[in-house]
Parts: sequence; structure tokens; C-alpha cells
Amino acid sequence: MRGFVQCAAALAAFMVGQTLASPVARSLPGPVQVTPKTGDVVITPKNFLNGTWKGNDTSKSEVVHSAAISGTLPIEIVNNLAGSSSGSINAYIQGRDTSGAIVFVLADGSFYYPPGTSSGVPVAISEDLAIPLGAQGTTTSITIPNYLISGRVYFAVGDLTFYMVSGGLVQPSATNPSDASANLNWGFIELTNDPTAGLFTNISYVDFIGLILGMSLTSTDGTVQTALGLTADAVDSICTSLASQTASDGYPWASLCQTSTSGAYLRVLSPNDYISTDGSAFSDYWSSYISKVYSTYASNPLTINTQNTPGNVTCTTGGSSIMTCEGSDVTFAEPTAGDIFGCNSGPFAVTGNAVDTAVVPRLCAAFHRGTLLLPGGNLQPSLSADNYYTTSPCNYYSKFVHEKEVDGKGYAFSYDDVNPDGENASGELTSGSASLLSITVGGPST
Ligand SMILES: *[C@@H]1O[C@H](CO)[C@@H](O)[C@H](O)[C@H]1NC(C)=O
Ligand SMILES: *[C@@H]1O[C@H](CO)[C@@H](O)[C@H](O)[C@H]1NC(C)=O
Ligand SMILES: *[C@@H]1O[C@H](CO)[C@@H](O)[C@H](O)[C@H]1NC(C)=O
Ligand SMILES: *[C@@H]1O[C@H](CO)[C@@H](O)[C@H](O)[C@H]1NC(C)=O
Ligand SMILES: *[C@@H]1O[C@H](CO)[C@@H](O)[C@H](O)[C@H]1NC(C)=O
Repeated sequence: MRGFVQCAAALAAFMVGQTLASPVARSLPGPVQVTPKTGDVVITPKNFLNGTWKGNDTSKSEVVHSAAISGTLPIEIVNNLAGSSSGSINAYIQGRDTSGAIVFVLADGSFYYPPGTSSGVPVAISEDLAIPLGAQGTTTSITIPNYLISGRVYFAVGDLTFYMVSGGLVQPSATNPSDASANLNWGFIELTNDPTAGLFTNISYVDFIGLILGMSLTSTDGTVQTALGLTADAVDSICTSLASQTASDGYPWASLCQTSTSGAYLRVLSPNDYISTDGSAFSDYWSSYISKVYSTYASNPLTINTQNTPGNVTCTTGGSSIMTCEGSDVTFAEPTAGDIFGCNSGPFAVTGNAVDTAVVPRLCAAFHRGTLLLPGGNLQPSLSADNYYTTSPCNYYSKFVHEKEVDGKGYAFSYDDVNPDGENASGELTSGSASLLSITVGGPST
């Protein structure tokens, strides 16, 4: 497609009688430099936590001091960030309490309920919400005093800004380069500690990679689960690889990276999050591959192993742009780039029966990994992970993220758990009897 556009431009130049010079070096897409602005708030589902607030007397918000009740979760935070001094990194713990009210945990271990607002204009929270960490090599302990729902533990080199708005809490946004916190190196883990379901905590790269975090979860029976995160150099390394990919195919992989006002790499957005800021990026990236896939499986079937009751189902296109899978009550039209990167729209919005539910993750994962036209790719999933990302097009963000994972844990796209052998790259740790959550900041402990 790009070649065609260039030819058309050259033809146009010829037609107006200009002499064709040797090709002009076209500038390649590069990283996005942040431009933080106080009060530049963009609210999306990814940086908004809905919730109620406790009271409306802003002069004294209710503070509940840590009582020794079940629901307490001790956290140890190990600072491995090279060169960081005491107080240079802050943690922020927030979520909803069991009544649905927005709550933070302050440095003294108490719950703090920020004053709410019925205004649609976000109001920055003025209370000091930061939990300062010790210097590199030290461990900081903090206990969450009670159950916390839809929680996040943020970490930042510097001070993050949170806002209250009608309906809930506004968090820093990775996709807004003008966010008040955009020039800071920050990241988070997600955490829900529910009275009935227990603790669920995860590290995910489905949206972005920021400050490098890892974790391990110990239960009262002594078992330890880990999701150790990425190597300390992951952001720089992934951005270098993405810039090389742009140099090779011209697509804006390099623009997934954001740089600080001084030009250092800060974070990497997933292609799905990046295209939410630039709808035309990557729009034709998969086009010819999709056409080849749909013509390859005209009458020779693509078999989807549902790994569940429907068994193996066969899918064919009859040479059209609609794929039909045996037993599915919906069909699968050719996806767009946005459908592939998000795996949740167009043919990948699950709206049908159990076959649809099984086909969507497996078909979408196969596009991300570029396995649909490999030998053996007519059965999905079946190829081992060493076949993933070996052909272009594929999701290079996912390829490079996995190369930097310390223990293979952490999804880089939403159906990264699809595998032939039940192997699972989920960065989720769960326990009904958690006794300690340990988090590393700035890279794994060696
Ligand atoms: C938050 O939104 C979810 C989904 O719409 C809803 O189920 C939940 O009740 C809301 N919670 C609060 C506290 O508003
Ligand atoms: C507090 O909220 C209640 C109920 O929404 C309302 O009636 C009252 O006027 C509010 N008070 C103030 C000081 O805003
Ligand atoms: C991560 O955990 C949170 C909290 O339990 C949950 O809401 C979210 O869906 C999980 N995300 C992934 C990608 O597993
Ligand atoms: C699906 O096909 C694969 C490959 O032929 C086979 O190993 C597997 O047992 C089949 N599953 C079922 C449920 O038939
Ligand atoms: C992988 O593990 C996660 C978290 O435990 C779970 O939600 C998901 O269903 C698992 N995927 C598969 C294919 O087993």
C-alpha cells in the first residue's frame, strides 16, 4: 500500500512536468516527547475509577486508622532503581473500600477518603498521598488496613497528581502526553482484595510499560507465586528495537515510545493504546496479510482447537471476506488493524455462543503472533512459542516485551494466555490467604 502511494506521488510529479530527482530521504516516525501541563486532564476508562465518596465536608475527610481486622495486606517494597535516593520514589495506594467509596492508603498506614465533588471539572487532591520509599537497596513496608477493590499501587519517580471528579477518581494517563504527570517515570500493579474472592493482583503490559515493577505473593501456607516483571533496561531496550523496526518497515513502532522533556525514554504504549491517540496509525499494516489468510482458508480449513467442549472446529471463507466456523452462531469478517490490536471489536467482539468465545482469542492471538500462514498454522493453537513473531506482519511490541520478561509473565496483548499446552503467560497472582505482597521497583532483585 505504501509503495503504491509513493508510485502515485511519483506519477503525479511526472505529470506536472517535474524532473524526478533521486528519492528524498523521508523522515521516519520517532518517539513522542511529552509536554506536561497542569490541569490537562483526559479521562478514559483506563485512568478513571468510578466510586462514591464519603461525606462532603471537605474540611475533615474521614480517616480510619489501621485496625487489625481481616483484609489487612502487608506489602514490602524493594527499591532496585539505580541511583535513587531516599524519598525520590513514591508509592500511591488507591481503590474502593467495600462500601464503594474511593480511598487511598497514606504513608502512616491509614485509609484516607478524599473529598468528593459533584462537579464535572476534575479537582486535584491536595492531601499528601505519597508513600515515600527508601533509597536504592532498601525495603519499605506498608500495610493496607482493609479490603481494597479495583485497587492500584502506583509508583513514581516524583509526585503524581490525582483528581476527584463527579463519579470517581481520575488517575494519571499514559496515553495523554500532556498529562500533569507525563514527565514522570511511573507505573502500577493492579490489586483487588475482596472479602469473598480473596486477593487478585497482576502486572500487565496490555496498555503500556512504564517504571519497571515485579512482584511475588506469599500465602499463609508458605507458597510463593511470582510475576517478576521486565529487566531493568527494558524501556530503553524495547524502544531501541521499535526504532529499528520502524527503520525497516516504516510503521510508527518508534512512536509507541514517549520521551521526557530532556529526551530520555520514559514509557512504551502498546499499539492498541497508541492507536487510541492516532486512529490512522497502522491502519493498513495487516491488510495484505489478512487478504492472504482469507484466501488461504477459502476451502482448505483453518482448524481452531477450542481446548474445550466444542472440540476442534473448522473455519473457511469460501474465498470471501467472511470466515464461517462450524458451530458458531456468528461469522468472522476480515478484521481491521484496530480489531486485531484490541482483540475486542469487529469480528473479535464476542457476541455469540461457546464456539465464538473460543474462536476469538485463538484467531486474534494467531494474528498478533503471525502464525496463521506458517507450516502447521492451519491448526490454532498448535505451534510452540518459538514460532511466534517470526514473520512480518506481527505485533512487534509484544515480541520485544516478551524478550525482556524475566520469568515469562505478563500479557502483552489481551489474549496472550492462548497456548497449545496450557502454558500461561498471565502476570496475575491470586490467593485466598495472602500473607505478604512483595514488590520490586526499578528491576528484579538479583
Ligand atoms: C462502577 O461501575 C461498575 C460498572 O459500571 C458498576 O458495576 C459499579 O457498581 C460502579 N461502582 C460504583 C461504586 O459506582
Ligand atoms: C452534602 O450532600 C448532601 C446530600 O447530597 C446535600 O444535601 C448537602 O447540601 C451537601 N452539603 C454541602 C455543604 O455541600
Ligand atoms: C488485573 O487485575 C485487575 C484487578 O483484579 C482486574 O480488574 C484486571 O482485569 C486484571 N487485568 C488483567 C489484564 O488481567
Ligand atoms: C484436535 O486436533 C488435534 C490435532 O489433530 C488433536 O491433537 C486433538 O486431540 C483434537 N481435539 C479433539 C477434542 O478432538
Ligand atoms: C491464565 O491464567 C489467568 C490468571 O490465573 C486466567 O485468568 C486465565 O484464564 C488463564 N488462561 C488459560 C488459557 O488457562
